[in-house]
Amino acid sequence: SGCITFDEGYGNTGSCQSDISFIDGEKGILRHRGYPIEQLAEHSSFLETAMLVIYGELPHEECLDAFRQHVRRNASIHTGMHHHFDGFPSDAHPMAILSAMLNSLGAYYPEMSSNNRDQDLAHFDETAALLISKVRTIAAMTFRMKMGLPFEYPDHKRRYTENFLHMMFSEPYGEYVDDHGAAEALDLFLMLHADHEQNCSTSTVRMVASGGANLFASVSAGVCALWGPSHGGANMAVIKMLEEIHQDGDDGTRFIEAAKKGEAKLMGFGHRVYKNYDPRAKILGKSAENMLQSMGMQDPLLDIAKRLEQAALEDDYFVSRKLYPNVDFYSGIILKAIGIPVEMFTVMFAIGRMPGWIANWKEIAENPKSRIHRPRQIYTGETQRDYVKLGDR
Ligand code: CMC
Repeated sequence: SGCITFDEGYGNTGSCQSDISFIDGEKGILRHRGYPIEQLAEHSSFLETAMLVIYGELPHEECLDAFRQHVRRNASIHTGMHHHFDGFPSDAHPMAILSAMLNSLGAYYPEMSSNNRDQDLAHFDETAALLISKVRTIAAMTFRMKMGLPFEYPDHKRRYTENFLHMMFSEPYGEYVDDHGAAEALDLFLMLHADHEQNCSTSTVRMVASGGANLFASVSAGVCALWGPSHGGANMAVIKMLEEIHQDGDDGTRFIEAAKKGEAKLMGFGHRVYKNYDPRAKILGKSAENMLQSMGMQDPLLDIAKRLEQAALEDDYFVSRKLYPNVDFYSGIILKAIGIPVEMFTVMFAIGRMPGWIANWKEIAENPKSRIHRPRQIYTGETQRDYVKLGDR
């Protein structure tokens, strides 16, 4: 294995060629299919950005309408799957449920999950809209199951995020009313998570896809990869960290000192690629502030987050390591204000990332030259030795 180059954590290894998203980490630039994230955040919507990410172009009006219709028509889950929820203990983590459910979903659509590339691709448009729609329904059903509430059926008249909030929070004795722009804030949150180059979960989706696995199985693997606290799980960890700081009566100063000594990690800070401010964090920071203001709400956690950010941006430890807030730093404050429980935060990330996973699966599946991903290793184990019989050890 002398000629194999080793690159810990693939810091400098291009694993694929891709047309989907572009990042310049030094300058803090993110573009989807060439469009800057700031412009999309200002003018686009989650479903439109999803189409852009998946199909490569901003859709014409009738295409976008057709896609929206498709998503609406696919919102409900086969009743056979309702029973799967009964099998989980109520304290099961929503990410475990989501991954299992997405993989199980494929079993209800054998023609779309054949693991025959041509056949799966022939159904691609249907599968993409179905997954974008149903991932949201599964998330809401998971929450209802955990709360011991009956499932709320999707309402086909509502838009994507409105329908999600309805399935989460409506009660038989009172429909959910969005009186503080929650659907709009959630739409922005999802859009800002739509795709992000070869992150851990997207690379996982591509890895699984490269072996020829269907889209359901591939995104189910993506959910597992996203779960960890260094990746999507960071959005849960940030709020837990902010709450702990608040409960300890710390204004953030003590925590920063602990992080510098290596005793704690400032969650929501740092990024493998961004060595400048994460452009998504900039947009979400503003959005969190606007949202709380429009709700007339004050969240001490936002104040702590802002103080932590300020302190870190002035501190040599963070400056010299080029550690800046990432997408997870402010997103939890928005989700919390909407009323999403902390345990569901990473599931919300998964709903947002679904278009990126789908687009990356498509890129692999459509490429006739794509090879199975099969990295090599540097072997560091024992050299050859002779077997010792059980009684002689
Ligand atoms: N707090 C304190 N120190 C940090 C942090 C942090 N959040 N992140 C990195 N460092 C230090 C690290 O200890 C190392 O110091 P030294 O050079 O003295 O050993 C240096 O900065 C370089 O860090 P690294 O671990 O080599 O960086 P990485 O590229 O391997 O990891 C990361 C990137 C995002 C996993 C890491 O910064 C981290 O764990 N951040 C906190 C978790 C987080 O917010 N994750 C979300 C990432 S963005 C969205 C997503 O992917 O979901």
